[in-house]
Amino acid sequence: MISLQNQIVLITGASSGIGTACARVFAAAGAKLILAARRWERLQQLADLLSKDIHTEIHLLQLDVRDRAAVEAAISSLPPSWSDIDILINNAGLSRGLDKLHEGSFEDWEEMIDTNIKGLLYLTRYVVPGMVKRDRGHVVNIGSIAGHQTYPNGNVYCGTKAAVRAISEGLKQDLLGTPIRVTSVDPGMVETEFSEVRFHGDTERAKKVYQGVTPLTPDDVADVIFFCVTRSPHVNINEVVLMPVDQASATLVNRRT
Ligand SMILES: NC(=O)c1ccc[n+]([C@@H]2O[C@H](COP(=O)([O-])OP(=O)(O)OC[C@H]3O[C@@H](n4cnc5c(N)ncnc54)[C@H](OP(=O)(O)O)[C@@H]3O)[C@@H](O)[C@H]2O)c1
Repeated sequence: MISLQNQIVLITGASSGIGTACARVFAAAGAKLILAARRWERLQQLADLLSKDIHTEIHLLQLDVRDRAAVEAAISSLPPSWSDIDILINNAGLSRGLDKLHEGSFEDWEEMIDTNIKGLLYLTRYVVPGMVKRDRGHVVNIGSIAGHQTYPNGNVYCGTKAAVRAISEGLKQDLLGTPIRVTSVDPGMVETEFSEVRFHGDTERAKKVYQGVTPLTPDDVADVIFFCVTRSPHVNINEVVLMPVDQASATLVNRRT
């Protein structure tokens, strides 16, 4: 197991769910954290908590990953003590809507494609050259079971996560000959703000997604990510698919109520 002490870890989507859980786990392991998201107050609250409790060194980025110029500016203007990113966790992402493709909302599609695919690509494109130059680094992309199996009305979201899977595979191939590692962590059902975002703030509908099942927690996923990045440097975990015991596929879920 390798130590994360003083390693610089950039986590996108750190203001909620899996990203926040990663921040906690990596902070506890002594990493220096660059936390990115759009909701500044959330980031500040998390930073306050982590720097008070664990004395973590933190650099915050208010960033919309869909904005390529903003991503470029954020990465290129990092202070020298923060610029040598060791681990990039491309976690920012979302689903919007659950509609038949032929009835879907163009706005929802654009948002998912721009965030889940293009945002992930922008971060990767601006961060990985530094890793190549320094001859060290690890990129972790958060995919989904949705990238392995398409479910009814999931069409475009599933398409974006299938793209993440292909992009992770491609990045690994293109980095062959370097020590840089690439991992895709692909969860099933995790209870976060994900469903609330999918249903545009309809909390009742969101709650129903997790009704009668024991879903994964954000900490469960962060734990797996932590495992992947702490293996010996010659080990690359390409892909992890994890789901709750109550789930057997994208559509097969055991509900007790
Ligand atoms: N929950 C699940 O069941 C599940 C299953 C498989 C995969 N995933 C994936 O896991 C990842 C994390 O989701 P989660 O479940 O933790 O959901 P979440 O609680 O809604 O968190 C999503 C995070 O992404 C950030 N984000 C969204 N759009 C962004 C943008 N344009 N720019 C910057 N940050 C943005 C949000 O921050 P701001 O709103 O503050 O910007 C938030 O921090 C996503 O990629 C999701 O697709 C989730």
